[in-house]
Amino acid sequence: MNLIISGTNREKSNSLKIANYYLEQLHTKGDDQWEILSLKDVPHMLAFTDLYGKRSPAFEPIQARISEARKFIFIVPEYNGSFPGILKTFVDACAFPASFFHKKAALVGLSSGKYGNIRGIDHFTGVCNYMRMHVLPLKIHLPQVQNELDAAGQLPDELTKKFVNEQIDEIIRF
Ligand SMILES: Cc1cc2nc3c(=O)[nH]c(=O)nc-3n(C[C@H](O)[C@H](O)[C@H](O)COP(=O)(O)O)c2cc1C
Repeated sequence: MNLIISGTNREKSNSLKIANYYLEQLHTKGDDQWEILSLKDVPHMLAFTDLYGKRSPAFEPIQARISEARKFIFIVPEYNGSFPGILKTFVDACAFPASFFHKKAALVGLSSGKYGNIRGIDHFTGVCNYMRMHVLPLKIHLPQVQNELDAAGQLPDELTKKFVNEQIDEIIRF
C-alpha cells in the first residue's frame, strides 16, 4: 500500500484531518492503494529506540509498510517556520536508503498562520531530494487551515478544493 503520512504526533491535529480528506478523495476516484500512517502511532521513545542502527519490535511493522510503499503523500504542518522535528526523527529512523530511494512523494503544507508552510515544504523537498525521491512539482499549501476545514473534515472552499483535486489527480498519474 502507498502511504499518506500525517507529519505530526499532535493530538487532534489538522494534519490528520487533511490526511483523511486525501484518503477519502483517492478512494472516491477509485484508487484504493492508499493508507494513512500517522506519526502519533510511532513508538513514543522513537528517538531512543530506533535511531543509529537500533530497531525496536514496535517499529518493525511501520518499517515494513514504508518499505512496501512506492508513493507517499506527506501532510506537513508548519512548526516554527519549518516541518516538525518528529517528522525528521521519523525519516532518520527509517532504513536508509531503501525506505525512500527512487520513490515518489507529493507534499502538502498547512498552518494556522498565513503561509501554509511554504518554507517547511521547501526544507522538506530538500530532504526528499537528498533521499533521491521524485517530488511532484505541484505542492499544496493550506494557510489558516482551521478556516478551511469544516466540522465534517471537508474543504468547502471551491478554489481550495479545485487545487487539491488537481494534485490528487496528478498523484494518481505520478
Ligand atoms: C510547535 C508548534 C509550532 C508552530 N509554529 C507555527 C508557525 O511557525 N507558523 C504557523 O503558521 N503555525 C504554527 N503552528 C500552528 C500549526 O500550524 C497548527 O497546529 C496547524 O493546525 C497545523 O498543524 P497540526 O497538524 O498540528 O494541527 C505551530 C504549532 C505547533 C504545535
